[in-house]
Amino acid sequence: MKKGNVLMVCLGNICRSPLAQGIFEHYSNHLSIKVDSAGTANYHTGNAPDSRSIKTAAIHGIDISHQQARHFIATDFRLFDYIYVMDQENMENVLKLAQSEADKNKVKLLLGSAEVEDPYYGSEQEFELVFDKIEKACKHILASWKH
Ligand code: 4NP
Repeated sequence: MKKGNVLMVCLGNICRSPLAQGIFEHYSNHLSIKVDSAGTANYHTGNAPDSRSIKTAAIHGIDISHQQARHFIATDFRLFDYIYVMDQENMENVLKLAQSEADKNKVKLLLGSAEVEDPYYGSEQEFELVFDKIEKACKHILASWKH
């Protein structure tokens, strides 16, 4: 696969996709691509990431505290080459705004076939598991770009 701009998408854009944005930025900072994240719901627009996501990222040396939640919009299909969603519900919500087959083809589950489950009502330990899953997926994507 070719390198391209990456948008990470979850529901609220405060737990999973801010971690995914921060991790992908961390491992791709030499590639001059755009990396961002968004939520399919707008309840948290303008908010910083959940404190548990900020803390988990910080433990791994990644600062995501400056991020601000925003809503996924149809224009994102034009700005990004890869739209990685965390779960099937995010997938359905994003696909509702697709206007072409090319748009639809940009949308993939970050983990390929499994979901990054919503840790919002979980413990801090769940945020650590989410971090690990997302980190593995980001490394896998970046490795696939090198060939
Ligand atoms: P996220 O988690 O989609 O990973 O940001 C959630 C954050 C907030 C809510 C749900 C999921 N919420 O219902 O407010």
